[in-house]
Amino acid sequence: MNPTDYDVIVIGAGAAGMMCAAQAGQRGRRVLLIDHAAKIGERIRISGGGRCNFTNRNISAENFLSQNPHFARSALARYSQFDFIKLVQRYRIAYHEKTSGQLFCDDSARQIIDMLRAECDAGGVQWAQPCSVHSIEQIDDNGLRFELMTDHGTLRCQSLVIASGGLAIPKLGATPFGYKVAEQFKLPVIAPKPALVPLALATETLAPLEALAGASLDVATHCEDQPREFREGMLITHRGLSGPAILQISSYWQMQEYGGGKKRPIVIDLLPGVNAADWIAPHRHSKITLASLLAEHLPKRFAQEWCALHNWTKPLAEHSRRDLDSMISTLKSWTLMPAGTLGYAKAEVTLGGVDTNALSSKTMETKTISGLYFIGEVVDVTGWLGGYNFQWAWSSGWVAGQYA
Ligand code: FDA
Repeated sequence: MNPTDYDVIVIGAGAAGMMCAAQAGQRGRRVLLIDHAAKIGERIRISGGGRCNFTNRNISAENFLSQNPHFARSALARYSQFDFIKLVQRYRIAYHEKTSGQLFCDDSARQIIDMLRAECDAGGVQWAQPCSVHSIEQIDDNGLRFELMTDHGTLRCQSLVIASGGLAIPKLGATPFGYKVAEQFKLPVIAPKPALVPLALATETLAPLEALAGASLDVATHCEDQPREFREGMLITHRGLSGPAILQISSYWQMQEYGGGKKRPIVIDLLPGVNAADWIAPHRHSKITLASLLAEHLPKRFAQEWCALHNWTKPLAEHSRRDLDSMISTLKSWTLMPAGTLGYAKAEVTLGGVDTNALSSKTMETKTISGLYFIGEVVDVTGWLGGYNFQWAWSSGWVAGQYA
């Protein structure tokens, strides 16, 4: 074989690309892994606060957003969270579980990068990095199907795997490369949008909340008229709302626009799990203020500022029945229309991507271009916060690695 010819070229040495290259290499394929960045796996390195939330014990297709909610099922079943946990255990990487099944390295995310590198070495994977790909042409030459013009010259391959990720955090090397390749090959792309992202509020909504900035609360969030709810932490910031409950709901809020849909407000329950009417009823005729009562469930400073903001400062006995009903409704269903998101600079992932209708869910190969595969975040499969996005990268990378 010509030294510039490969069985498989993978573009993007992130989570999905390294997994795919390692698997294809270990099957005996001659594999080249290309990345334009000088450092590999940067997104893994910074993930989970430097400890990489590498998967979640409780994963199903329900934890992913996509125009085809069933697409991820096959890959997740064929290479599950338990398979990845076994790999982590084989490399003796110590890990621990945080809330809701989230698994993190005890020590450092670098251990996951080192493990993937070692897996690539075990498959004899070759690297081209940093290396930019300038063009891709389809060819038909003795089984070779693609010709790439790159910084490292002209390279040819039988199978081409696009693992270039989404658009989140451009300063870490994110590019729209994968979407452009899809366009070149006339594959549909669901418009990418920032997801798992803080939400911005308009100045007029934000100004009265200024005194609440910095408050961190346990809340439940959902989009108006949608059943999916997240009970996690929320942070009020000087620009809007952040924290896991907001990041989770931001993806669903963004998703509403697909198919010409209109965005609805988000609804925040400040007293999740509390029947506020029953809880307040015994105090209905007392001298206690709502702020004092709320301090049983909410941070004291927040309770005070919140009540001052709504002019609920009198003893409860002096408030009318209507006042009380309105208080309860505001506390249980604080309804806000975000002005937008804080964009890709603050997003963890990209919603949308290569339309799954164009791909085989079993192999990740495109249905129309033989030998062309898309894996990981570049595909229209977006996980919840909590290790789901890496599992999608491992699962989609693994299956493509069996066929590419
Ligand atoms: P990924 O982005 O990992 O890799 C893409 C690779 O392609 C990069 O190496 C890039 O340099 C390369 N590339 C891009 N354009 C190219 C081009 N034109 N030419 C060549 N190469 C190119 N998820 C999770 O499950 N648990 C977590 O703890 C976190 N934490 C987290 C924190 C932060 C701050 C962010 C931004 C994201 C997370 N995520 C996460 C999400 C997770 O990082 C993400 O879903 C996966 O890394 C996606 O893996 P991919 O391999 O698809 O893309």
